Amino acid sequence: MRLAAYNGSPKGERGNSNFLLRHFLDGVMETPGHSYELAHLSKVKEQERFVELFTGADAVILAFPLYTDMMPGIVKAFFESLEPLCGREGNPPIGFIIQSGFPESVHMRGLESYLEQLSRRLGCRYLGTVLRGGVEGMRAQPAFVTRGLLSSIRELGRGFGRTGELDRELIRRIGNRERLSPLRLLFTRTIGNWMAKKAFWDRRMKENYAYERRLAQPYVEPPEGW
Ligand SMILES: Cc1cc2nc3c(=O)[nH]c(=O)nc-3n(C[C@H](O)[C@H](O)[C@H](O)COP(=O)(O)O)c2cc1C
Repeated sequence: MRLAAYNGSPKGERGNSNFLLRHFLDGVMETPGHSYELAHLSKVKEQERFVELFTGADAVILAFPLYTDMMPGIVKAFFESLEPLCGREGNPPIGFIIQSGFPESVHMRGLESYLEQLSRRLGCRYLGTVLRGGVEGMRAQPAFVTRGLLSSIRELGRGFGRTGELDRELIRRIGNRERLSPLRLLFTRTIGNWMAKKAFWDRRMKENYAYERRLAQPYVEPPEGW
């Protein structure tokens, strides 16, 4: 199988999508007889190559982050570039891996329906969509916290290499949290928020020299000289 893999994160190789996608691809390559090419949609000048890759593939997997409850612009632009292939004989089967900052999969259900319908309109067999929340900051977590997720993603890739299908049960397991329980919600809104602010957002703002202006309200009180 010639697999076309796309990373739809504007952060390219540095992003979480690429990180998860690579674990999936490692799993695929553990079964013999496959090759893959990985394209980063952030390299927008290569759009023609992205389409060529799609037309020559036996299967396609596209990983990207949730952006404002939908997709990054580069992913939308990629979909639009495929329009001339709508309904073409022999379009490859397609599957998706979406990951997000918020922990609940429910945020991604609308997008999942969109992708299923898009696949149908393109004339691609729809393989399914992995939805995984709470991925922002994942790579800063200790290995024992993320080991389970990464090995499941790898197992999904291995199964895909064996059968050409994305295992539904594994997809369900990877997207572990449809909604937060009331107790977790309470924790997230109180201690969790405070910890994220101290450990993450405040640090980011300091690194970017924005901390002193964190309470600025530019629409209410425009800064001097605006
Ligand atoms: C512009 C922007 C919009 C985002 N919108 C959402 C969102 O609507 N819901 C969400 O849960 N996470 C959102 N996120 C968080 C990303 O989905 C999350 O950080 C993801 O892991 C980034 O993946 P990447 O490193 O592959 O780009 C957003 C991030 C950015 C930069």
